[in-house]
Formats: sequence, structure tokens, C-alpha cells
Amino acid sequence: MVNPASVSTWSQRFESALHPVIAQFNASIGFDIELIEYDLTGSQAHAQMLAYTGIITRSEGDQLVQGLEQIRQEYRSGQFQPGIEAEDVHFAVERRLTELVGDVGKKLHTARSRNDQVGTDTRLYLREQIRTIQRQLLDFQAVLLQQATHHVETLIPGYTHLQRAQPLSLAHHLLAYVEMTQRDWQRLDEIYHRVNISPLGCGALAGTTFAIDRQFSANLLQFEAIYANSLDGVSDRDFAIEFLCATSLVMMHLSRLSEEVILWASEEFRFVTLKDSCATGSSIMPQKKNPDVPELVRGKSGRVFGHLQALLVLMKGLPLAYNKDLQEDKEALFDAVKTVQACLAAMTILLAEGLEFQSDRLNQAVTEDFSNATDVADYLAAKGVPFREAYNLVGQVVKTSLAAGKLLKDLSIEEWQALHPAFAPDIYEAIAPRQVVAARNSLGGTGFDQVRQALAAAQQRWNYLAGQSS
Ligand code: ARG
Repeated sequence: MVNPASVSTWSQRFESALHPVIAQFNASIGFDIELIEYDLTGSQAHAQMLAYTGIITRSEGDQLVQGLEQIRQEYRSGQFQPGIEAEDVHFAVERRLTELVGDVGKKLHTARSRNDQVGTDTRLYLREQIRTIQRQLLDFQAVLLQQATHHVETLIPGYTHLQRAQPLSLAHHLLAYVEMTQRDWQRLDEIYHRVNISPLGCGALAGTTFAIDRQFSANLLQFEAIYANSLDGVSDRDFAIEFLCATSLVMMHLSRLSEEVILWASEEFRFVTLKDSCATGSSIMPQKKNPDVPELVRGKSGRVFGHLQALLVLMKGLPLAYNKDLQEDKEALFDAVKTVQACLAAMTILLAEGLEFQSDRLNQAVTEDFSNATDVADYLAAKGVPFREAYNLVGQVVKTSLAAGKLLKDLSIEEWQALHPAFAPDIYEAIAPRQVVAARNSLGGTGFDQVRQALAAAQQRWNYLAGQSS
């Protein structure tokens, strides 16, 4: 069986068409149609450059630009739906263009290859997606900051090894995620500049015999620079790998918070309740309310990490320059983009309105443990007892208190003083959870004053960045 449409794609060198299964196997139109708007924009810039340099006439350039614009309208209105016979989005556009403007359409591909074309498209696509994700990160930070503002004085147990360690201001805990997502924002901002480089004009691999003006088309497309080496320009996918690395980190951060929310919503913790708008039920257990949103985010993080791995493996054995393997970068990138954008949107809603911190329960929780033990040791150390000695002493008190079913606050002043004469009645104040938190006023610590300052600084930074990106 012969697929007649594919006979015409290649030069006269080919006598018969692709086997239909191979045509299907080879085609990327099923997914690279996602690039169409960028392909049209890139081709318009290329056509303008061809006219500007006199490689084609001004009128030919105008016809090409207008024809491409018409395809854009056809695509947007749903009229243009190329099928598998087009192989990929680049051929689909060129064919339609020739149908629309006649033979001049065949001039579009002068001094260009699909290799520099697809590289151009992918970079135009990705730089736009990066800006969207950066905006979403700021939206997410906004709800974290809002929650933090409400919960500076709400206490929450702090953990190491998932064992109660020292109590915290809940705002301090939330601000940790603001810092993480700030680095995420920054990484994307840096990567943007390495994505925003034009490979257009690198040709198939070696440049072109035509007197093109690469800077001209790069300027039209608002690229910040052009690839200096044509081989590198057509085969570099570092920018895509960096992007997947940066989005993997975004997902890793979202996943950690998701894991915390899942724990917090459990009967064992009861630190948050999930609102009906962001939770689901069980089909069999009527009492259940499931944290599907954070579970899905945690689960979806694996997809993005997988795409990063896939692209690294894809690249590591490729000889210069273009190899068809590179067609495989697209689904990985598109899926990573969609996944991280969907997860940021869902987590922003979850944090904004999908859960409620149980302040009473949280404030109560920190009174029921030994997370003030360090503060007893610090108390003695401040009175001149060497810290290690104090630490050992308090370890002993914890042991005997546990055996007696008591907490540190239940010990009498006589018991304290029997342990060490330096204890005075102000020990009770020193180990009260609120004081324990307030006292950690070192730079970057959880003390309320520190947290208020950190919150103000984060808010100021946010205002600046949000102002810039609007
Ligand atoms: N669909 C191809 C891709 O995504 C376009 C470039 C094809 N180039 C080639 N020399 N076959 O990579």
C-alpha cells in the first residue's frame, strides 16, 4: 500500500512512498501542532529577512507573511487541521501556504532547514511558557504570604526525622516555601536568557550559501542573541534540559508541601481540614475526605523528573549535529509544561481556599511534647553551665518525666532545683511554647520578630517582581 501524499514530500530522489506504518511512526504532527503559532511567527520573520536581504522580492515577502497570517486565522478558527500526511507542523504549514499563495510559497524554505526551524519554534514556545510559570510561581507565593500573614502567632510543631523537634511559627514554616519558590523563579529567569537565543539561519547544520541576515530575523523575533556556531545551534537542547531541571525542582518543592498537607489533614495530625471544594470522597467509605489535590501533585512530580531523565539519555549519545532522535524532545517538554502549570494552579487554589489551618489544635499540639527540651538546656547554658553538660542533664529529666507520665512544665520548682541549683521560677516562662518560639530570634530563625521581618521582606520582594511582570 502506498500513501500518495507522502510521495511528494521528498525530492525526486525518492521513487516510492513511505510504508503507511512507517509514515505514522515518523510523523510528529500529532503533537508538534502545539508549535504552530510559533512556527508561523518564526516563518514570518524568516520571510521578512529574505525580502530585506533581497533574496526574494519585497512583494514575495509580503505574500508569504500574509499567507502565513491567513493560516494563523484558519488554525484559530478550527479550519486548519493538518493530518498525518503532513508529517510535521513545518511541512503542514509550507503546504498550506503554497495552496494559499501559489508557487511563491515554495520560496519560504530558501536558506533554511527544518533543523534550525524546529529549534526556533521550540525556543519561542519555551520562553513564553517560562514567563507563564514565573507568573504562576508569584501567584502561588501570594497565597503563601497571605496565609503567613494570618499565622505569624500560630504555633506548629517543627520536626526533624518526622519527630517533634522544636515549635515554630506557622508563618515561618510557610515562608520556607516562599524561599524555595523564589529560587525556582530565579532559576527560570536565568534559564530564560539561554532559551532566548536564535538558531535561525544555522541551516541544516553548516549555515547557508545565501547572504542572509541572522541578526535581522533574531531582532524581529526578539531573541537576545544568536547561536555563534551552526552545528551547536541546530543540535543544542541544553536549554530544554535546563528547563526540565528547573521545573523538576518546582515539582519537588510542590511535592514536599503536598506531602505535608497530606500528613496535616490526617486524623493523626488534624492540623488542617480540607474544604469540600478541594477534597474528594470515597466510593465505599462514607466518612472519608481525601486529599486528592496534593496526592496528584506528589504523583505528577515523577512525570517531570522522568522527562528530565529522558532528555538527558536522549542527548548523551548523539553525534553532531541534528538526529531524528531530537523529535522526541517535544512530548517531554510539552508534558512537563502542562504538568507544572496545572500543578501550580491547583496548589494555589488549595492553599488559597482549599484548606483551613486548625489554629487551636496547632497551638495545643506544641504543649503536649518535649519540644522545649532544648530550651531547658539553653536556659542552663545561658547561666554558665557548659551546653553539653546541660544537654545531658536535660536528657535525664526527659527520661524520668516520660517514666512518670509528666511533661517538663509539670515539674515542681523543687524538682528543677534538685536537678541543678541554677533553676529559678522563671524556668516555667522560658519553656512555655510561645516563649520558646519568640526566643529563637537569631537571623532567619522562627522568633516572631524575625518572622515579621522576613514576611515584610518577602512581601516587598514580591511587590517588586509582580510589578515588573505585570
Ligand atoms: N519534526 C522534526 C523534529 O521535531 C523536524 C525536524 C526534522 N529534520 C530532519 N532533518 N528530519 O525534530
